[in-house]
Amino acid sequence: MNLRHVSRPGEGVDAIETPALVIDVDAMQRNLVAMAAFAAGHRLRLRPHAKMHKCAAIARLQVEAGAVGVCVQKTSEAEALAAAGTCDIYVSNEVVDRRKLARIAALAAHIRVAIAVDSAEGVDRLAEAMRAQPGAGIDVFVEIDVGQGRCGVAAAAAGALAHRVVSHAPPDGGLRFAGLQAYHGGAQHRRAAVEREAASLHAAALVRAAQASITASGIACPLVTGGGTGTFAFDAAHGVWGELQCGSYLFMDRDYADNAATPGAPRFEQALFVKSQVMSRGAAHVVVDAGHKAHAVDSGPPRVWRHDLDVKSVSDEHTVLQARPASGAASLPGIGDTVWLIPGHCDPTVNLHSSYVVVRGGLDAGRVEAIWPIEARGCLT
Ligand SMILES: Cc1ncc(COP(=O)(O)O)c(C=O)c1O
Repeated sequence: MNLRHVSRPGEGVDAIETPALVIDVDAMQRNLVAMAAFAAGHRLRLRPHAKMHKCAAIARLQVEAGAVGVCVQKTSEAEALAAAGTCDIYVSNEVVDRRKLARIAALAAHIRVAIAVDSAEGVDRLAEAMRAQPGAGIDVFVEIDVGQGRCGVAAAAAGALAHRVVSHAPPDGGLRFAGLQAYHGGAQHRRAAVEREAASLHAAALVRAAQASITASGIACPLVTGGGTGTFAFDAAHGVWGELQCGSYLFMDRDYADNAATPGAPRFEQALFVKSQVMSRGAAHVVVDAGHKAHAVDSGPPRVWRHDLDVKSVSDEHTVLQARPASGAASLPGIGDTVWLIPGHCDPTVNLHSSYVVVRGGLDAGRVEAIWPIEARGCLT
């Protein structure tokens, strides 16, 4: 792994070469503890989504703080984290490619693995892959569409699919029916809390309908898993979800910061930054050395931390910042100055970097505590 362009543990924050992906680890740990306390206080299991951080060191901290394991979305993410020591992984996504299913089954022979399904064909392919690993088992969640219109079967079809899973149960097959996957990605960034609350309420009604469909098939539904940073507090209140999968709460990003606060939910702090440096200065703008190869703009531009600067444009290696009209050009930073960017969207920003620079003591005067590899970076298969 190429760590040449990052700082070394012990160095001051000023020494971090730019652009760099930096964790304010004090803020991250407060977020970690706040979510763990919320889940424990509501008697919910916490299985944070590691597709966000893609890092085994962080997965370890989450499990040490009480998480039952982590979620990932991709087969190769699961493999990368398992190789780095993560031993309880839920692929909260459909995998239907036979070669990938063979890899999932091989993982399930060594660590605890779960997976989501939303088709009979997918269930049968998974069962076929598991037959090549006699004695191994895998937990299987039937995904229902709770309003996003992405993956998942209709609530009324959950019973039939659960039945299909159970038809491949031990001792003849390796599939253990584990319950329902119910995640509403489309609701997480609705700005008004009442809109997220309404989406969560609707999702809960669909979960109950799916549970009824499963029990009508004579099958018990052990667990409902789902929830994200935007809806978890509403989801928790319904009493149908037993496990939360939130990911972004740990780092936060500009898109989540733009959500109105959720009553009763912890306020998470910004913990992920891209450190950049002013490389050029015009009469009314500055240019920093981190473009969208260093911070993802799919959810909109980054925000500048503690500066009255707005993002004017972003290109591959440059972000152009201009002073707010009220502040004027005098507020522009100088050549060589540091500018901390709050990424628009944390997940794809992380995927652009090979490692985190972990800073203890704040961004003004802190020190580099560690460099954490992002083992699952680029794991898209
Ligand atoms: C299936 C699933 N669960 C949980 C999450 C976590 O959501 P968030 O990062 O918004 O907390 C995601 C994110 O996209 C997801 O796809």
